[in-house]
Amino acid sequence: MSYTTIAVKPLTPAIGAEITRVDLSAELSEQMVSEIRDAWLTHLVVFFREQNLTPGRLVEVARLFGKIGRYPFVKGMDGFPDVVEVAKKADEKINFGGLWHTDTSYLELPPLGSILYAQEVPAIGGDTLFANMYLAYDALSDGMKNLLSGLRGVNSAEKPDAAVTRTHRIADRPADASTIVTTASHPIVRTHPETQRKSLYCSDGHTMNIDGMTAEESRPLLQYLYTVQQREEFQCRFHWEQGSVALWDNRCAQHNALNDYHGHNRTMYRVTLEGDRPH
Ligand code: SIN
Repeated sequence: MSYTTIAVKPLTPAIGAEITRVDLSAELSEQMVSEIRDAWLTHLVVFFREQNLTPGRLVEVARLFGKIGRYPFVKGMDGFPDVVEVAKKADEKINFGGLWHTDTSYLELPPLGSILYAQEVPAIGGDTLFANMYLAYDALSDGMKNLLSGLRGVNSAEKPDAAVTRTHRIADRPADASTIVTTASHPIVRTHPETQRKSLYCSDGHTMNIDGMTAEESRPLLQYLYTVQQREEFQCRFHWEQGSVALWDNRCAQHNALNDYHGHNRTMYRVTLEGDRPH
């Protein structure tokens, strides 16, 4: 697509693009939304800088790209139940989302995307890595692709490394997750419903085992897939400034919030977009 209302500058050949000429606080034309959507589907995660958004406007912007979903474990902000504060405080050592994952893939209907708005960021550090799961799939041999077709991964919110990353925020604002099922089996190779491309949909953060196999039996294969998913050539790294916004596609990208800024505050507002059943 050639863009007429926005400018799009890729971060790496693999993933990520910065979009300029857009003020998300103002009303966006249909053409602009369609161009942003196109860039998002092409680059998997798009970034905007120097935005000035209220939590309410962040929700309105998110609604331009899908239906709003809810994060199961942490209550939204007062007056804005759809906006979760993703923070690490200066006296904390654990950060939220600090490992490779795709958001809440332990739900039956995991979110199609998420939008994150930087409120307060450390002067140095606190970047987020994103990785392209289409490329991870494409890099596999035909033999491995055949082996994976039909296999499902069991994803759980209880995988310890991921569970620990939400402890502080749950302590602050616990949501009642008692009726929510937080284990789900999804195909390891997922076809994106809009682009029809195949991607690897298991993650170090949430996948416990291959459905029908023990964790021990599954580990060598899953570990191999994680090393492919985390190859540097499939990644980009985004440095946040106050007012930066990221919109990512959870169906074909993973992310990892780096935890390299102990002693500093980092506060983001996050809204998630409801998704469908992975196929
Ligand atoms: C998340 O996983 O939603 C957090 C990402 C970040 O804070 O960079």
